[in-house]
Amino acid sequence: MIHTSNRPIGVFDSGIGGLTVAAAMHARTPSEDIIYLGDTARVPYGTKSTHAVNRYALECALFLLNQGVKLIVVACNTASSIALTRLREILSVPLIGVVEPGVKAALSSSAHKRIGVIGTPSTINSGAYQSRLRELAPEVEVYGKACPLLVPMAEEGRLKGEIVDMVLEDYLGSLKRRKVDSLILGCTHYPLFKPSIAGVMGDDVHLVDSAQTTAESVEEVLLREGMLRTHGTGTVKCYVTDVPRQFNKLGRLFFGDSLGKVSRVTLS
Ligand code: DGL
Repeated sequence: MIHTSNRPIGVFDSGIGGLTVAAAMHARTPSEDIIYLGDTARVPYGTKSTHAVNRYALECALFLLNQGVKLIVVACNTASSIALTRLREILSVPLIGVVEPGVKAALSSSAHKRIGVIGTPSTINSGAYQSRLRELAPEVEVYGKACPLLVPMAEEGRLKGEIVDMVLEDYLGSLKRRKVDSLILGCTHYPLFKPSIAGVMGDDVHLVDSAQTTAESVEEVLLREGMLRTHGTGTVKCYVTDVPRQFNKLGRLFFGDSLGKVSRVTLS
């Protein structure tokens, strides 16, 4: 029988964006094998209903469980915001989402407790970030803003330049006026815009990249549960639910390194 620590970690996202989280995990806990599932046939989740996102998230998690994973990371902010609580009720493996690590990092970096959150429409409308921030720090002022154009722009590889700056000025103007001192990048794709967002928000605003903080949480949970793998070099195996053309093309941009073979699967 395989010892639990030697089993892979499952990571899923609506598509390619969660590779930013997988990359941060691979850097932080390099001995871990990662099985990544991108639900590319049904991306984006960020504009879908709660009902649909709950169903998709459960199907992704069940696929990963069938691969024998020891822990599941819900790398998608939309799925974390909407489906994580329900997944925890149904499944028995440890589940880590991206909301909690982002919230904690924002609270610890914000001196004046004025925090902005940007994400997909579904993430912002769910109120998951806003309510968790208020639960942990009732005095906090939270401002949420949906930025729906950023995901398609990232998937076009358009990460800087005049158009990006115009879109960011438009989305971030209200958060700047409210003088947030910490901004949660509450979507898998947004860390790719970090330099442009920093340019618009200014150097005084701390940008919270949930990918890094989630990788730290994963390590903490693995250590606590006695499941951390400490020897060998971990592999990253990717599955997608549609033809992998775009995934192969953009994989390097999101993962920061080339990906091995990407296989197509059908979820049920
Ligand atoms: N992965 C999604 C998220 O982090 C962004 C893409 C989508 O809308 O599915 O919210």
